[in-house]
This record gives sequence, structure tokens and C-alpha cells, in this order.
Amino acid sequence: MNVLLLGSGGREHAMAWKLSQSSLLSKLYVAPGNAGTEQIATNVSLNPMDFSAVDRYIRRNSINMLIVGPEAPLVAGIVDYFEESSKHKDLVVIGPPKAGALLEGSKDFAKAFMARHNIPTADYQTFKSGELKQAKAHLDKINPPYVIKADGLAAGKGVIITENRQKAESTLEDMLENSSLGEAGTKVVIEQFMDGIEVSSFVVTDGTAYKILPSAKDYKRAYDGDKGPNTGGMGAISPVPFVDAEFHEKTLNQIIIPTIKGLRKDNIPFNGFVFIGLIKVGSDPYVIEYNCRLGDPESEVILPLLKSDLLHLFDSLGSGLLSEYDLQIEDKTAATVMLTSGGYPGDYSKGKQINGLENTPKETEGIVFHAGTKTSRGKVVTAGGRVLACTGIGNGLEQALERSYKLAESISFSDKQYRKDIGQDVLVKVV
Ligand code: GLY
Repeated sequence: MNVLLLGSGGREHAMAWKLSQSSLLSKLYVAPGNAGTEQIATNVSLNPMDFSAVDRYIRRNSINMLIVGPEAPLVAGIVDYFEESSKHKDLVVIGPPKAGALLEGSKDFAKAFMARHNIPTADYQTFKSGELKQAKAHLDKINPPYVIKADGLAAGKGVIITENRQKAESTLEDMLENSSLGEAGTKVVIEQFMDGIEVSSFVVTDGTAYKILPSAKDYKRAYDGDKGPNTGGMGAISPVPFVDAEFHEKTLNQIIIPTIKGLRKDNIPFNGFVFIGLIKVGSDPYVIEYNCRLGDPESEVILPLLKSDLLHLFDSLGSGLLSEYDLQIEDKTAATVMLTSGGYPGDYSKGKQINGLENTPKETEGIVFHAGTKTSRGKVVTAGGRVLACTGIGNGLEQALERSYKLAESISFSDKQYRKDIGQDVLVKVV
């Protein structure tokens, strides 16, 4: 099978790494990819948002399966584009069409979906441009901290949580009146704050059958102690120690099954990942948000734990045989620490030479996944804010973290920055 994978982050390197182990794979192409995917696949200089260029590439290279990594092409309708095309009758596309991707593409849509299907989530109210006065008045009805979310995709800048009333009001003004986030902020959702601990659940579904991947927890703030600005994710662990049988059952019965039934009831087609951002309040799960793809850096800890063949999973999904797929997970723990460019998530420079990549451990103990990297004059250099995900695998979280940090310390580039406390909040030390 010839496969084209769209994307260029750590998630796509982790997917490419796992796909490249499949006996079903003939050729793997990654567009645009990074210096890591280049070592195991053919990188293709294509913009995933340029559907007609992707279309031409697929036809010229006899691609059988298209896997969409990031959310933007899904929300923009790449799956619909290929489903509607008479030239691609046999192409398997992994990812939901636009109607399903709206679970991530519109916060208002997702909240209304949850309300309709009695899925536990925070109370909310939506306001559009022209309703600034009503939005500000609504703040009187809720207790701080105020949670304000732009309706659309906003590259990690769309969620503001603040205790400060003034800041909440100026955020509403910026989004609704001053178009600070463009189209994404012309509608906002104001939510009641929920106090608890976050965890994510990953489900592969064709809209009827489903398989559940290991739980994961990511660390979104830039600095130790969950301080500083939000990032795409500074590290992750999987599975999460506090996801015990009771919490898993509650998540399954109150959230996962109602979500899949809800999609069916609403005639929303789906063929890919539902990534459910959860918060555990007391002992109960609530949905913070839905995403329509795998997480990054969650992929860098989940995929190394997958014993079974990822391409076989996608093939089963594409051919309506997901219920028969035998999903097997290693009885191990994975942790990843993201090495970032100094200044990230603000301004940072690129093009710094990366050293130490040759000292890799056995793949059963650790893997370095590339994110913002590229090859320049035969050397691997930094090319983004999140540069490398250093994944450690072990018997338990403590060993996984130890291996992950050993890798993180063995790699160098100027202005390297990383969190030192990934996993510490949930680590139960064995003495
Ligand atoms: N790590 C969060 C995300 O992928 O959206």
C-alpha cells in the first residue's frame, strides 16, 4: 500500500515511525515532513492546505491511502474534497469530513452537541460580534476564573482563563469587536470554570465501531509548575496513573459511547480520531474540548505503546472492519519531554545545529521524534518552536521519565529550553 501522510510535527514523525514498521506498507510519503520523517519516508514539498496539489500528487504516485495529521485541512474539508471527487473512488482517507471536524473547528458546535446528547461539560453561553454588551453582562452571572474561548481554530491562542474581570472584558472586546483572532473569534463561548486535573482520551471510530487508545496527559504551559503562556504542549505521559478502572468506565459510559451515538444520531460521518480533552472533577469526567485528530505530543507517547500494526488499524477503519481489529497495547509507560527553541511560544530563532542525535538508545527504551527540524547542508537544524520530542519507555512512569530526561539532556542546540517537571504531578514513587 502506498501512503501519503500530511503534516510536519512530532505527531507525524511518530505516525510515520509506526507506519514504517508495517508489512502492509509499500511506500510512505510525508508532506511536508521534517528531518525525522526524511530518514524513514520520502518527504514531499506540498502544503496540506493546497488540496488540488495534494490531489495531483496522489494521482501521479498511485497513493492508496491519505492520512491527515493536523486539524486545519480537516476543518477546511480535505476529506469532503476527496470523497466528492470521481477520480479517487478507491482512495482511503483517514480523518473525518468537515461535518465531523466541526467538533474541533467550532467550540459552539461542540458545546451544543454535548448539550444535545447529555455529555457532561461546563455550562456555557455563546455570543457573536455585535453582542459584546450581553457577553460582558454574562460575566456577572458566573464565578471567576472566567473561561473565554474563541469559536474557531486559533493556533493555541483561542482560550483565555483569567480571574481578572478587566482582562476578561478586554478579551471579549478584542475578539468580538477588534477581530484580534480574525474569523475564529467572531463568536465566543463563555464557560463556567471547572477545577480538576486534565487527561485525554483517544478513540478511533468509523462512527459505529470504536477502539480506545491509552490515556495521555500533556503539559501545555511553557514553564515548570504549569506557569507561563500556553504552548502546543511541552511534554506528555501515557498511560495516566489516575485513570483507574472506575474512571475509565465512567468516561466510556458517560462520554465516549454517548459521543459516538450522538454522531450517528445527528448523521455526522466520522472516520478517524476523536481526541477528547477531559477534566476529572472529584471522581467524575467532564469534557473540556473535542479534537478531530491525534494529539501532539500525545502521539509521541501513545504510538510507542501500540503493539499492533497502525497501518492495519487504518486499513480496517477504511474498509469498515474496525470492530474486527485486534488492538494490542504494551504493558509499559511512555513519557516525552519536548525540547523547544528559546523564546517559544513567543519569538525564537531557527537554523541552530542540533547535536547528539546519533546517541539514540534501544527503541524499546526511547525514541527521539522530530518536530520543528529540517536538514540543511547535511546537518539537522532547528526549524520551529517545538523541536524534538524525547520519548522514554519504561516499566512505570518513573523509569519512563528517567529515560526521557536522559535523552533530553544528551541532545544539544543553542538556546534549548524544556520543562523539568513533566509527569511529577501524577508520579507515585515506588519506594
Ligand atoms: N497537545 C494538545 C493538542 O494536540 O491539541
